[in-house]
Amino acid sequence: MEIIKSIALLDDVLNAFRNESKSIGLVPTMGALHEGHAALVKRCVAENDITVVSVFVNPTQFNNPDDLRLYPRTLEADCALLEKLDVDIVFAPDVDEMYPEPDTRVFDFGMLDKVMEGRFRPGHFNGVAQIVSKLFYAVKPDKAYFGEKDFQQLAIVREMVKQLQIPVEIIAVPIVREQSGLALSSRNMRLTEQQRETASEIFKTLARSADLLEKQSVEDTKKFVVNSINNHEALSVEYFEIVDGDTLQSITDWDDSPCIVGCIAVFCEDVRLIDNIRYK
Ligand code: PAJ
Repeated sequence: MEIIKSIALLDDVLNAFRNESKSIGLVPTMGALHEGHAALVKRCVAENDITVVSVFVNPTQFNNPDDLRLYPRTLEADCALLEKLDVDIVFAPDVDEMYPEPDTRVFDFGMLDKVMEGRFRPGHFNGVAQIVSKLFYAVKPDKAYFGEKDFQQLAIVREMVKQLQIPVEIIAVPIVREQSGLALSSRNMRLTEQQRETASEIFKTLARSADLLEKQSVEDTKKFVVNSINNHEALSVEYFEIVDGDTLQSITDWDDSPCIVGCIAVFCEDVRLIDNIRYK
């Protein structure tokens, strides 16, 4: 496994593989890797000749400087895990390599980034689009892997690829959960044992709401989820939306769309967690 920090060197190494007609897969990450990331990497290794994992904490997608400062940076441990997973290249550039000058691009994602994460984290998805497009230009992967955990991010990346006409296939990978149901996240590291247990109520409630689907309207389902979660002292729902899986716009009736997803953001005390469930 090679650890590469410059785009020029990465390009040389990947061109040699391309000349041998090897397919290239990319898994973009911000490091602090866990089994959720590992699922993306395993899938990438299985489906491509060469797997590149990028590890880069992207400053332009953080709208809170403290969040950026506190983001865990564990490159050594990340590389040890990636080596075991048979990754070929870890691309771990520093900020100057990816942003030699400020990226002033402003994307227009229409209504896709006006809701949910986009609404509560203004500028976040513009930063995600900036870095993911730069990674796609640097790696030129045949396939790139993203987790369904960040459901809205997947929609944004797909839209960006369409707008910029980047020839890459976007692959969605299902959410990896703890036994308790809690979706794995780098932020879970900041939860105490007690908070972790409480946080598992988020997915338990989403799962219960899916069981009640036949008996409840969309409006009642929303109330059920928000009230049940807010009932736990340590939990506070920031938003819960039931949306069309493609447009991410709220629906009002279960017949409104063939693909319906419930997306939630919850504060567990000061740790912000997101999750989602596919209703149909
Ligand atoms: P990061 O939060 O490190 O996540 C990297 C990828 O891992 C994302 O596609 C995310 O959806 C996926 N992932 C995280 N937890 C998961 C879980 N429990 N199950 C399945 N997949 C999971 O998302 C980012 O980084 C950044 O925004 C990035 C795309 C790298 C751009 O900077």
